[in-house]
Amino acid sequence: ARSRRRAVLLTDDLGALGRAAAGCRGCPLHAAATQTVFGEGPERARVVLVGEQPRDREDRAGEPFVGPAGGLLRRALEEAGLDASEVCLTNAVKHFKFTVPEGGKRRIHKSPDLREMTACRPWLTAEPAAVRPRLVVALGATAGRALLGGPFRVGDHRGVLQPFPSPGGRGDGGAPALPDARFLATVHPSSVLRARDRDAAYRGLVADLRVAAAALQ
Ligand code: URA
Repeated sequence: ARSRRRAVLLTDDLGALGRAAAGCRGCPLHAAATQTVFGEGPERARVVLVGEQPRDREDRAGEPFVGPAGGLLRRALEEAGLDASEVCLTNAVKHFKFTVPEGGKRRIHKSPDLREMTACRPWLTAEPAAVRPRLVVALGATAGRALLGGPFRVGDHRGVLQPFPSPGGRGDGGAPALPDARFLATVHPSSVLRARDRDAAYRGLVADLRVAAAALQ
């Protein structure tokens, strides 16, 4: 089973990876979620942007960042000069995690825990390994933690280009290192929607994404 799994994870075909991930039972989240939401974008995207996990809208649609946070992110990308044709959008965890309060109907998002993030990590490592982008952008702390594999505060890293950490240790799926790729962190678009000063938070996101755009020049 191990060698089969490695063979799947080492493909550079994002579509094949997505089809393999559709059947993932690596953690309990698949049971309540509608479907796996895998990375989407051109095969040779120059940037991979990593969010937290699909929310209600993404879970239903099977596509990342199609809800309110996604709308804001897409606007910010355009404003920063990053074309949709050069970005791949994905999430640290590929299934929606939620609770339904007693007597209610709405599915309320819950942040993934370390176990779920660890279970999903082979997929998260496999996506950049397949796409081979020039830059990987963490949108928020969960993505930063999942990509760097340790405690992560957006405030300590945001807007600063760093080398992309080589995969290693458990759960890397045998993915090759990307020696020329760089890493950048910024806030999660949902945090902009929740911010007291939304305009300032949005400008901060766009400023960080401009650093990403400049890194591709
Ligand atoms: N939509 C996503 O796909 N990911 C997030 O992290 C938030 C909204």
